[in-house]
Amino acid sequence: MTELGATGLRVGVAGLGCGGNSRLGQGTGLTHDQSIALVREAMDLGVNLLDTAANYRTEEIVGAAIRAVPRESVVICTKATIRDGKTLFPEEHLLASLDNSLRALGTDYIDVFQLHGVPPWAYAHAVEACLPALAKARAEGKIRHLGVTETAPHDHNHEMLQHTVADGHWDTVMVAFNMMHQNARETVFAQTRPQGVGTLVMFAVRNVFSRPDHLRAELEQLAAAGQIDADLTTPEALHDLLVHDGGASSLTDAAYRFARHEPGVDVVLFGTGSHEHLRANVASINRPPLPEADREKIVRLFGHLVGVGLDLPDRLRQPDAKA
Ligand SMILES: NC(=O)c1ccc[n+]([C@@H]2O[C@H](COP(=O)([O-])OP(=O)(O)OC[C@H]3O[C@@H](n4cnc5c(N)ncnc54)[C@H](OP(=O)(O)O)[C@@H]3O)[C@@H](O)[C@H]2O)c1
Repeated sequence: MTELGATGLRVGVAGLGCGGNSRLGQGTGLTHDQSIALVREAMDLGVNLLDTAANYRTEEIVGAAIRAVPRESVVICTKATIRDGKTLFPEEHLLASLDNSLRALGTDYIDVFQLHGVPPWAYAHAVEACLPALAKARAEGKIRHLGVTETAPHDHNHEMLQHTVADGHWDTVMVAFNMMHQNARETVFAQTRPQGVGTLVMFAVRNVFSRPDHLRAELEQLAAAGQIDADLTTPEALHDLLVHDGGASSLTDAAYRFARHEPGVDVVLFGTGSHEHLRANVASINRPPLPEADREKIVRLFGHLVGVGLDLPDRLRQPDAKA
């Protein structure tokens, strides 16, 4: 367990992401009841932070799952989007989204209410229009803490979060960080740590460290651009580097442990529709750090890369692929 920034919330370092590709298995064919069972198993394994969003269409599943436990034993994070493309929503839309989330989750308060995927150009709207409305909802007891999440595939340098952390309006931020996208170390964590802003990491694994074909395409692209060592251009080479006795048990294990032990990271989110992956990921995120020599290698070999694993590599991108 750890503290989520200065919120006073005690949370497990492994947080269940209820969106991403898996959406608790809703994206991969699980029934509603099977997804509820997955959330319940996560809670049985000690996960107490559940991150959902209006857009994910998993709030009702989370609501059904948490009915089995005392409300105060779980930390519910949800999100509302503040725009459709370039069109910004008025604050009434945000408040309606909050009320819908409360209804879907079957609760009368949200622990952390987040603005979902705020691009840098929309940040002024978040502060000027959304914040006053959220402050009112907070005073009414509907929200305990406020957060923002970045548009990771389109904001590789965490431009939006740099405003966020500087202005002190937000209790938490959600930020992309992984073995091949480490720049939040300087641009985000260096500021959130002293200011007590809670951090939730996304994209620790996503496709690149869970699907060998994605990793292969990504490594080929990086090698072609001269961005990685010539002897590190296959998933097998990366596996040999990190998976060994006393080291990681798999590349996914390495990726979750690398993110979880980065100074300044409070919670690592993981998404899955699989009980086997759920158990493996909770175990990984709770394991000790990778051997220091391996961590140093990851920083030395990949620390200069930016934006890897946030989107599909070019070779696998479909014209209609979602960001
Ligand atoms: N802007 C935002 O606000 C935003 C954006 C993205 C994500 N998020 C949050 O972050 C959470 C996590 O998202 P993410 O993008 O980091 O990751 P993710 O999309 O949840 O990626 C994990 C992927 O790896 C697979 N996987 C998980 N564990 C595995 C294992 N042990 N072995 C092999 N494959 C495994 C999962 O598929 P299986 O179902 O097969 O396990 C899934 O496809 C989301 O659920 C959401 O809560 C927020």
